[in-house]
Amino acid sequence: MGIITLSDMIQRTSRRILITGATGQLGRELLRAKWPKTDQLIGFGRTDLDLGDPGSVRQQVLDASPDLIINAAAFTGVDAAETDEATAHRVNADSVGELVKAASSKGITLIHFSTDYVFDGSNSDWYYEEDRVSPLGAYGRTKRAGEEAAASYENALTLRTSWVYGALGNNFVRTMLRLADGRDSIGVVADQIGCPSATVDLAKAVVDIASDSSRSTQPLYHLASPEPASWFQFARAILEEKIDNGRVQVNPLTTAEFPTPTARPANSRLDSTAINRDFGIGLPRWTTTLPTVRDEILRTGLS
Ligand SMILES: NC(=O)c1ccc[n+]([C@@H]2O[C@H](COP(=O)([O-])OP(=O)(O)OC[C@H]3O[C@@H](n4cnc5c(N)ncnc54)[C@H](OP(=O)(O)O)[C@@H]3O)[C@@H](O)[C@H]2O)c1
Repeated sequence: MGIITLSDMIQRTSRRILITGATGQLGRELLRAKWPKTDQLIGFGRTDLDLGDPGSVRQQVLDASPDLIINAAAFTGVDAAETDEATAHRVNADSVGELVKAASSKGITLIHFSTDYVFDGSNSDWYYEEDRVSPLGAYGRTKRAGEEAAASYENALTLRTSWVYGALGNNFVRTMLRLADGRDSIGVVADQIGCPSATVDLAKAVVDIASDSSRSTQPLYHLASPEPASWFQFARAILEEKIDNGRVQVNPLTTAEFPTPTARPANSRLDSTAINRDFGIGLPRWTTTLPTVRDEILRTGLS
């Protein structure tokens, strides 16, 4: 019998984790999250893996030889998707199908992200995983098609999240802080409600899920902060110090007063009790995480 060395043991327990969307806000956060020391992270940006070219995806992924794939890449431009649904579909749906093909050929687990924008917002209550989807626009339609592609593979787990913000990348928090720098009053939509979810909390949850994805009893879970807010309430919390000092005023707007090319759901509160039941995971309230994220954005610069 041969002697098992420490490096053999590390080799056996180490996982190669492929993270797509490595230049995005969630991908960057996943890359700096606290993974077990033996895990090897491979961050793929668009130049490493172009999801706009689904035909190239399977081989590129297999060449990287991952044990786990986390798909944090997406065509996330909600309004841009409206004028280029074909590209959005290639990235958000066709390429997810190719990730599934690569993963299923080697039995690799795939963790995929989706969005609250698969719902039309007409529900007055929280949204549960089994609720009827009815996207209002192209982005939601393509992301729904991606969910369906992922659901065709038994080792894929889709995490539907909402209103993503973080210290890295572009998001509502950064936009509000930037706007408040140059204006003394800002109007923000007050009749759309969702659950702001921080990348730092999502990334931590993914690390935990990845440690034991066998606990999953369903192909798709909601994973969002349990605390709802309107964009207006969220903006007031982001800018509270400037509001208190009289440096900026935040005024509520209706959706009709702030029209966008694509309609957004008026209510997209995601209920996350199922993932809490199966994985013991629950994101913190957004009011708990926001100050740390805001501090990091201000410390590292708004641009
Ligand atoms: N942002 C939200 O409010 C929100 C809400 C709910 C769900 N989600 C979901 O959460 C996940 C992460 O979103 P995020 O906010 O981190 O997005 P993000 O900051 O917009 O990042 C998207 C990432 O996808 C990459 N990407 C776009 N097109 C690509 C292509 N053709 N090939 C390869 N990579 C491509 C981007 O690369 P480039 O840097 O090169 O563009 C970037 O790295 C996505 O699945 C998204 O649908 C987001």
